[in-house]
Order: sequence, then C-alpha cells, then structure tokens
Amino acid sequence: MAAALASQVLAYTPDVAKATASLYVKVAKIIPEIEWPVFAPLIVEINRLKKERDAVILAHNYQTPEIFHCVADFVGDSLQLAREAAKVDAKIIVQAGVHFMAETSKILSPDKIVLIPDLRAGCSLASSITGADVRLLKEKYPNLPVVTYVNTSADVKAESDVCCTSSNAVAVVESIAAERGVDTVIFIPDTFLAKNVAKQTKIKIIAWHGKCEVHERFSVDEVRRFRADHPGAIVLAHPECPPEVVAECDFAGSTSAMIDYVAKKRPPRVVMLTECSMNDNVAAEYPDVEFLRPCNLCPHMKRITLQGILRSLQTMQYEVKVEPSIAMRARAAVERMLQVGKPTPAVR
Ligand code: 13P
Ligand code: SF4
Repeated sequence: MAAALASQVLAYTPDVAKATASLYVKVAKIIPEIEWPVFAPLIVEINRLKKERDAVILAHNYQTPEIFHCVADFVGDSLQLAREAAKVDAKIIVQAGVHFMAETSKILSPDKIVLIPDLRAGCSLASSITGADVRLLKEKYPNLPVVTYVNTSADVKAESDVCCTSSNAVAVVESIAAERGVDTVIFIPDTFLAKNVAKQTKIKIIAWHGKCEVHERFSVDEVRRFRADHPGAIVLAHPECPPEVVAECDFAGSTSAMIDYVAKKRPPRVVMLTECSMNDNVAAEYPDVEFLRPCNLCPHMKRITLQGILRSLQTMQYEVKVEPSIAMRARAAVERMLQVGKPTPAVR
C-alpha cells in the first residue's frame, strides 16, 4: 500500500531526470529509455531514505539491474555479502536477496536491524532440509563433521560444524576434514554442489538431496546446442548445475567468480548458465562482450523490487529476527567459514 502510494506521488520530474542521469548511463544498454521514468523516482526516494534512516542495501548478483546498479551499496556473491554484513557500519541492513541471506546478515550483525522487502523470497535449497533432518544425519554418522551450504535456514546452520558458499566449498571441506582427522564429511543440502566439490578433493562426501530449482534445469543437450549454434562461445556455469553440465563448461564458479572471469578474460561471446539478471548486470558493465542467454529466472530473487525496497524503508518491514540461542550456534558455523576464506578453484 505504501509503495503504491509512493509510486503515485513520485513523479518523473526534470529534477528526478537530472538526479538520475548518471545512473541511467550505467544501465542504458539493458533498461529501455521508456522504462526509466518508472524506476527513476523510486531510485531517488530510496537513495534519500537510505541516508535518512542510516541504512545500507546489500544486493546479490541476481538482483535486477535497477537494484544492482542504482540503489545497492554493496553487491556480490553470498560470501562477499556475508563478509560485508559482518562489518557494516549502518544501523539498518536491507537485504536485496533471499531470506537465508538476510538471516546470515542478522546472524553476523545481531545488533543491526535487518530488513527483507518480501518474506516470500525463499530458496528451494533452503527449504529442502530442516534442523531435525540434520540431527538425524548426525545420529546416523556421529563422528562426521557437517558442512552446510549457506543456502539454508538459521536452524540448519545451528546444527552444523561449518558453513560454506560456492566460492569456498572445497577449502572448507578440506580444512574441517583435516581439523577432525577424518576422510569423509556430510555436505548439505545441495546434491549437485556436493558432487561438483567431490570432483575436486580426495575427501569423501555424504550428500543430501536438495537442488536449486533454477540451476537443475540446465542440460547437457542445451550446452551442446549452444556450442554448435555459436562456435567459440565460452560457457560458464554455477556449481549448483548438475555435474554433467559443469563437465561440458569452460569454467564453473560462484556468481562473482563468473563475473571475474568475464572481467579478466573479456571473451567476445559468453554463455552464463545461471540466473538471468546476472547476464544483464554484467552486460551493463562490459558492452564489448556478447551475452548469449540460455538463462533461468529465480522466482524468489525476483520477489525483490524497487517498490518493495522503498516500502521496506518506509515501513521498516519485514524485520528478520533469529532466536538468540540458534543465532549463537549458527554464528559459530558461519564465522568458522569466514576464517577459512580461500576461494575454490575453477572446476575445470
Ligand atoms: P553465490 O554464492 O555463487 O552468489 O550463489 C548464491 C545462489 O543462491 C546461487 O543460486
Ligand atoms: Fe535458491 Fe537457486 Fe534461487 Fe539461488 S537461484 S536463491 S539457490 S532457488
């Protein structure tokens, strides 16, 4: 209601056009001029309210370009956002991402107010496992450490020995195995990430059956068709893709690792097997690279909009809270991950 009101009141005036002109230059390649009058007044108001409220916006690489390039204070993959959340100065963190990311921010910054603009921004991996499931796994394998992908609820993290993201998973698995003197770890909940990690280490992995609903849809046939239709195109994949898809690619890594690959190597044509907004966000920055788009949308990430962010700053909703005893145990697992810190090398 507040956002609807705001967008009625907020007009695309000459002042708004002037104030947002330099931002539009950043996104002109991907946001048609005709759409800018809708976004620009919201951007001005969000950037004003952020200062007034002492808030920062942490935005994941899958956020839409008008969020990623025009209102975010920090952007990155899950690991980079967690690191930012741990050291942020502002009173309020608005998480432009999904719920587990907001929980991670709250776990690492318990004294801050953490807001998520839409409570429906979930994740198929996070909803594939509960704390009770992890307790059962620990009963079944009492001596094995539990390595937990950050795409999980605080409850699940609290039952875990250490967390990881796609950019440090191998290093985390190897470090906890060495510390405990074991050759096997439990790795939850992403079965494909588990298999992709297992290919890069001698440590044996017991996996869960979770899948990312966005990345599981990429197929080997699709990659081969793309290579046939676009000879010379470089194919990048997120390690949440099935292992046989990753095996067909030139490089696999976290969302930020894929961005770095494009930034450093500047391939003339690239295919990113990941969420669609990543292509847009990177395309905006590298006009010399052609992005071919067999991408899939994450419906959860797309719950976050400029209108929602504005409403969140206006109404201070929805505040993400984590029960202190759960937060304390979850924090130990996340902080242990942050200490490992070594990025995972490319799969191939
Ligand atoms: P990254 O940590 O690579 O950004 O991945 C998060 C995610 O949800 C990918 O689907
Ligand atoms: Fe979860 Fe997949 Fe969406 Fe990432 S892309 S938030 S793993 S559902």
